[in-house]
Amino acid sequence: MLSAKSLFQEILDDDESFALFCSIAASGESQGGWENARIAELVPETQRALAPKITRHGADEDKHGRIFNALLRKRGLSPVPVPPETDYTMLLERSGIGLAHGRLRRDEPLTVQDIVTYLAHSRVTEQRASEQMELLRRHFADDPELGRAVRMIAGDEDNHLAYCHEELLRFAYAGHGRAIQRTLRECALAEIRVYRDVSLAVMAHMGRILNWPRPKAAVLSAGIRAVYAYERVAGWRRMVSLRMPERSNALGGPATPEPEAAAG
Ligand SMILES: [Fe+2]
Ligand SMILES: [Fe+2]
Repeated sequence: MLSAKSLFQEILDDDESFALFCSIAASGESQGGWENARIAELVPETQRALAPKITRHGADEDKHGRIFNALLRKRGLSPVPVPPETDYTMLLERSGIGLAHGRLRRDEPLTVQDIVTYLAHSRVTEQRASEQMELLRRHFADDPELGRAVRMIAGDEDNHLAYCHEELLRFAYAGHGRAIQRTLRECALAEIRVYRDVSLAVMAHMGRILNWPRPKAAVLSAGIRAVYAYERVAGWRRMVSLRMPERSNALGGPATPEPEAAAG
């Protein structure tokens, strides 16, 4: 039977598909780490209080990248090149969502509007990250190979999402509500398209590696398109709502180090 769990299990059981899965994940995480580190360095004077949280956000993403690479090493595998059509972070940046990398490379302080853009972009992408990790946590939390890594990353992504809600609400109360709503909507509508395209591309690669029969590949791509259709009509709204998280100041304090087992 074709379920999310059986699909993941199949990808995780084969060295080549596992290497591609971990490499794509590690690359996305470390791009996120770089972006956050640069944003933390360029925070405008009036928002200094936010800098340590952005640094922590970046440190978490870098740690996730290291964890995915460590999972590869533990299996005796090396990272493989990430096909550009599967590069979610790069494709989002190319479609003009979030802060452009060219802007982040310049040593020029960001504006408050830039910080709002960064937080809105993160609100949307962290929702995706936290939902994807929740799916993995549901099925693999007790897996001897992946369990600790999955639990740790899933917990971190939940914190990132909570932090985005809290900080965006703070900016909304300070009068940025309309800009936030506009930016969130733009980000969400772009993200669901990029997510569909990347999912189709990843599944095409996995299908080739795992020799999926044509009907199976067809069912999967129909499923991905159906998710997009739902998100385009209604699902995107879950990515733009704001509510005070149960856990406040989720990124106060330093990053928790990765578990020995995953780092080893
Ligand atoms: Fe992450
Ligand atoms: Fe994250």
